[in-house]
Parts: sequence; structure tokens; C-alpha cells
Amino acid sequence: MTKSNWVSEKGGIMETIERFYHRLNADGSDRFTRWRPYRDEITTMIQSHLSEGTRVASLLVLGAGNCDDVDLNALSILADTLTLADIDAEAMAVGVRKYEVPADRIALIPLDFLGFPAAGFFAEARAFLNRPFSHKDLRRFWQRVTVPLTMDRFPPGFTEAFDIIILTPIYTQFILPLVTTWLASIDASQVPKDRRKTFIEGLLEILPRCIDRFNAAISRLLKATGVCFAWSDIFQTQIGSTFDAEVQKALATPASMDALYDGYFSRYGFGSGDYGLFSLEAQLEKNFHRWLSWPFTEKERMIVKFEMLTKRG
Ligand SMILES: C[S@@+](CC[C@H](N)C(=O)[O-])C[C@H]1O[C@@H](n2cnc3c(N)ncnc32)[C@H](O)[C@@H]1O
Repeated sequence: MTKSNWVSEKGGIMETIERFYHRLNADGSDRFTRWRPYRDEITTMIQSHLSEGTRVASLLVLGAGNCDDVDLNALSILADTLTLADIDAEAMAVGVRKYEVPADRIALIPLDFLGFPAAGFFAEARAFLNRPFSHKDLRRFWQRVTVPLTMDRFPPGFTEAFDIIILTPIYTQFILPLVTTWLASIDASQVPKDRRKTFIEGLLEILPRCIDRFNAAISRLLKATGVCFAWSDIFQTQIGSTFDAEVQKALATPASMDALYDGYFSRYGFGSGDYGLFSLEAQLEKNFHRWLSWPFTEKERMIVKFEMLTKRG
């Protein structure tokens, strides 16, 4: 498969997109083992925010991927049925095999939550990029292509509301890394550098709206009495760096970590990770938050904000 296949329409762009996310998901390392303490911390946090003996009918995991950060054995004690959704069907299939939950209690839904490629985005974007454009053209382009967000409708498998919804770090993976990789695959002689840069700026302008709509869909999918646990990567540290040491120290006290984040935010502003949670808080009521350290690779940590949210009374 050549890079130009990114734009091949009928050849199944969905499959190509799956492969893109599969490549991100499959780093071939010992993630499952390395992430164990982090996964356990998440499990403990979920359990401690539900009353003892909680057993609900339905639990949905959005962005389940390889199920390395969600312990399905523990979740299966909380709900009769676990529904897992992700664009990467292969990762989910492998993920569930790491656990002992009977297959008839798990439903897998392979789905692109945003649906850009299915709406013909890559072909349209390619044609658009062929010519110079004004800022107004760019804005119109992005507004037009973001109209058909998959999660705006209740797709198959999402016909009922859920008692518990778990959202794993997904906001920072939404569309931006995909479009950036796709742009890099286009020959520089065909689309000049500054045009690509402006194109991405247009995407950054509309991304918050996509995230808002995704979050609105999550809120619709949650029962009135339901609970949502969401976590998102906010920033990254290099293990062993001075900043990493500072963050590790702050993590010991939630208030110190909040203060460190405030400083970071006033310096750098929103990234898609914190914007995602902030936007979710506009849809649901935040009851609790805590900072976690995610041992993403052997060299890098993601600093993650974990939240528990419920429907507004
Ligand atoms: C960082 S991973 C979360 C970790 C994951 N729970 C695991 O343990 O492997 C984010 C997940 O979001 C999925 N994802 C990204 N964009 C998506 C989209 N547009 N629709 C559905 N899933 C998407 C990726 O495939 C990936 O599995």
C-alpha cells in the first residue's frame, strides 16, 4: 500500500483509517505490563466512586483500544454487559482476550466516532488543497466537512442509554494526528508548506466544535442516573527530566498538581486534551477530579486528568 492510498476513496478509506489508529495502538512493547499500576489506579478510582456492591445493566467504554488502561475483569463485576467501542476493531479483539470475561457479556462496536473519511473528507480535502484559498474559503471548507459527525446520530449498537460510560484518552487523538500524517504523505511540490500550515490552522479552529458535539453525544448516551468516568492526557514529560521530577512531586498532593496545571495552562493555553474535559464538564456535572501519571512509553509519561461526572440534576 502506498501513501497516496490515503485518498483512495472506494478502496475503503475506513480500513486505512483503522490501520492508522492500529499503528498508533500497536507499539509492540509491553504496554499491558508497564501500564498495570496505572490501570489499577484507574480501577480503584472507578470502584471507589460507586457504592459498594454496585451492579448495573450496561457499561460502555469509548476508545477501548487494546484495553490496556481498563481492567475488563474488574468492570465485569460492575455491569451485566460491557460494550466496547473504538475505530480499531483488531485492538479490541486482542484486548478482550487478555481478560476472562465471557464473550456473551461483551459487545464490540468498531466505529469511527467522528466520521470524516466516511463523509468523503480526504477526496474533498485533496481537491481543496490543489488551489490557493482565502481564510473565508478555508473556514467554509472545514464547516462543511465537519457537518456529518457519526456520533450526532445513534449508530447501531448505541440504541440505548448506558448506566456507566467510560471515556479513555481520545481527544488528543481525534483527527489532528491523522490529517497531519496524511498531509505529510502528499508530495511537497503539489501542496506548498504554508498552505498545509493554514489548512491545519483551519482544523484547529473547528476541532473544539467537533469535541463539543462528541461530548453532547456522550451526554445523550448516559442514563439520567448514570455515571461517566473520563480521563484525558493533558501534557507530557520526559522521564528523568527536571520538569518530570517537579510534576512527580506535585502529584503527591492534588492541590499542588492543580496549581502546577494552572501555571502550565496560563503559559500554553488549551490543548485538545484539557479542552475535551472542559467541554464535557459543560454537558455533565463534574463531581471529582484527580491527576494521574501514565507510563506511556519507557521514556515518556503522560499526565492525565481523571474525572467522574453525572447528569445535571
Ligand atoms: C490512547 S488510546 C486509549 C487507550 C486504550 N484504552 C488502550 O488501552 O489501548 C485512544 C483510542 O481512541 C481510538 N480512537 C481515536 N480516534 C478515534 C475515532 N475517531 N473513533 C473511534 N475511536 C478512535 C484509538 O483507536 C485508540 O484505541
